[in-house]
Amino acid sequence: MSNQLRLCEVAGVKDGEPVAAFAEGMPALAVYNVDGEIFVTDNLCTHGNAMLTDGYQDGDIIECPFHGGSFDIKTGAAKAFPCQVAIASYPVEIEDGWVCITKPEGAV
Ligand code: FES
Repeated sequence: MSNQLRLCEVAGVKDGEPVAAFAEGMPALAVYNVDGEIFVTDNLCTHGNAMLTDGYQDGDIIECPFHGGSFDIKTGAAKAFPCQVAIASYPVEIEDGWVCITKPEGAV
């Protein structure tokens, strides 16, 4: 059985407009288009109960909608206070026009 998860169609992810995605056994995910390149991170802010897809994308930075913290979309690194803990980011594969990630080891 493949561990590959299909999240959404590439065509549905516009630059600057992150899209929420869901996959079995995974936390809520966010899919981004940065200059035509697709990235996937966890959607939940590490500072509080906010979905980053409700925030504001500025290039490769996603700003949380709650307290102005932000993360690097490409690496998941925390970029602005009060966010200090990185969000998980996932290597992306594009298959038949779909955004796919591989389910990490240990995920159920
Ligand atoms: Fe995201 Fe506070 S919940 S910065």
